[in-house]
Amino acid sequence: MAALSVDDTIAVIGAGTMGAGIAQVAAAAGHRVYLFDSAPGAAVRGVDKITAALQRRVDSGKADQGEVDALIGRINPVDPSDGLVGLASASLIIEAIVENLEVKRALFEELDTVIGKDTILATNTSSLSITALARDIENPARVVGMHFFNPPPLMALVEVITGLQTSEEVAQTVSDTCVAWGKSPVFAKSTPAFIVNRVARPYYAEAYRAIEEGACDFATVDALIRESGGFRMGPFELMDLIGIDVNYAVTCSVFEAFYNDPRYRPSLLQREMVDGGLLGRKTGQGFFRYGDDREVPQPATAAPAPAPSNIEVCGDAGQLAPLLEKWSAAGIKVDFSEGDGRLRVDGINVAVTEGRPATELSAADDEPWVLVDLALDYSACTRVGIASCRQYPDSADVVAGLFQSAGKAVSVIADHPGLIVMRTISMLINEGYEAVHCDVADAASIDTAMRGGVNWPQGPMAIANQIGTWEVLEVLENLHELYLDDRYRPSLGFREAVWSDAN
Ligand SMILES: NC(=O)c1ccc[n+]([C@@H]2O[C@H](COP(=O)([O-])OP(=O)(O)OC[C@H]3O[C@@H](n4cnc5c(N)ncnc54)[C@H](O)[C@@H]3O)[C@@H](O)[C@H]2O)c1
Repeated sequence: MAALSVDDTIAVIGAGTMGAGIAQVAAAAGHRVYLFDSAPGAAVRGVDKITAALQRRVDSGKADQGEVDALIGRINPVDPSDGLVGLASASLIIEAIVENLEVKRALFEELDTVIGKDTILATNTSSLSITALARDIENPARVVGMHFFNPPPLMALVEVITGLQTSEEVAQTVSDTCVAWGKSPVFAKSTPAFIVNRVARPYYAEAYRAIEEGACDFATVDALIRESGGFRMGPFELMDLIGIDVNYAVTCSVFEAFYNDPRYRPSLLQREMVDGGLLGRKTGQGFFRYGDDREVPQPATAAPAPAPSNIEVCGDAGQLAPLLEKWSAAGIKVDFSEGDGRLRVDGINVAVTEGRPATELSAADDEPWVLVDLALDYSACTRVGIASCRQYPDSADVVAGLFQSAGKAVSVIADHPGLIVMRTISMLINEGYEAVHCDVADAASIDTAMRGGVNWPQGPMAIANQIGTWEVLEVLENLHELYLDDRYRPSLGFREAVWSDAN
């Protein structure tokens, strides 16, 4: 089925942060839009907010006054005293009211009695079940999730979510309409947290775990995730921005929705922050301090150390290969020999982490070991994390000098299994494959969703292919064995993908 025509009227219920933005998107695509809110004056305020935002674009020469006037003219605020009957002519109604199952159900039930039988009922819910929301509707096939991201005019992603009774036709119409509105829709099944909020859980969870286990401090986690992982914001600065309480509420609801699956277990530190009223930017203090006495967080950065005179590459340098040229250019003599891919520097073994601690590797062969964190682009990245075994703690200085000679800032962290970036990314990949395995969405949709919904540089499947699925599986298997915690169990879907890749 095709997209709705621009002659179709759209109604948006709830004129808050999301509703006003969705109304703007629909009006920008040429539809006549009704904007309804139960709070007196809220719909008019919603239109005023859209007008003010668009006027700023006109004033800065980014939008045309005539087009903006026409867009605003297409949005009609509805007086709540007129009730919902005025929305009866809409072909698509999108609700963006308070996130409460009973309130949303009551709204849908009332709409069911006043609107035409073919009108599509969409919900912008970020967490509620579409199947549950459709329970009291005569024709539940017309209920679908249309999950926009904030702010709707700027964020490309829309998760089109089907409940158990949603008709394929309705979902397809909504998806095609999103494309006509310039959005990138992906289909997802109604399951807890849908795609983005589910696949992103380890981004926060592994950051908390690193702090709880004393791997390093908040700023160092953020710096490694940004500078080695290529993400725009580190998990702690991002949680400070979102609100640590908001993030905690999502974490708890996902954990409960999955019947306390340890994969989604909230962190003790997360609760401690919330209980202490340390909620992030909005309270002036979260993981970092804001306001007049704002502090600019500084990651742990190793002092300059001398470069070693030579290194031995035992076998294939693998992910570190792009650095060999830089080391040669820095005057380090690079020798090659047979081996398992480790580097040897002044008698120290160096390798990219495979999930086992350096201390364990050192205990096995009675030699110093230093592990290197993952960087998605070792050649271009500005920072590298390393961790030394406990038996030979001075080894970190030598290896810091090696990476500094290639122009990298070095963060020496504690011997945390999988370090920071490798561990976080491996868990994100695992979650992505688990969502595919559980038929929430297909792999391509998950990559699209993570890029469009949270601005990741690449989706988890693309990252897995870049760094090697076998390598990621090895990290997960090692973490699982080390912690004896089901949280780290590799998804069957991921294992199947790795095995089939090999064929
Ligand atoms: N804020 C976000 O970042 C975001 C992102 C994606 C999805 N969502 C979802 O979008 C929905 C709205 O969120 P928001 O942030 O825009 O909320 P908001 O509080 O900014 O706006 C909600 C609006 O709904 C109105 N309202 C409440 N009950 C109503 C009812 N029964 N009938 C009509 N109007 C009613 C309120 O007066 C208010 O103006 C929620 O389901 C939320 O989970 C929010």
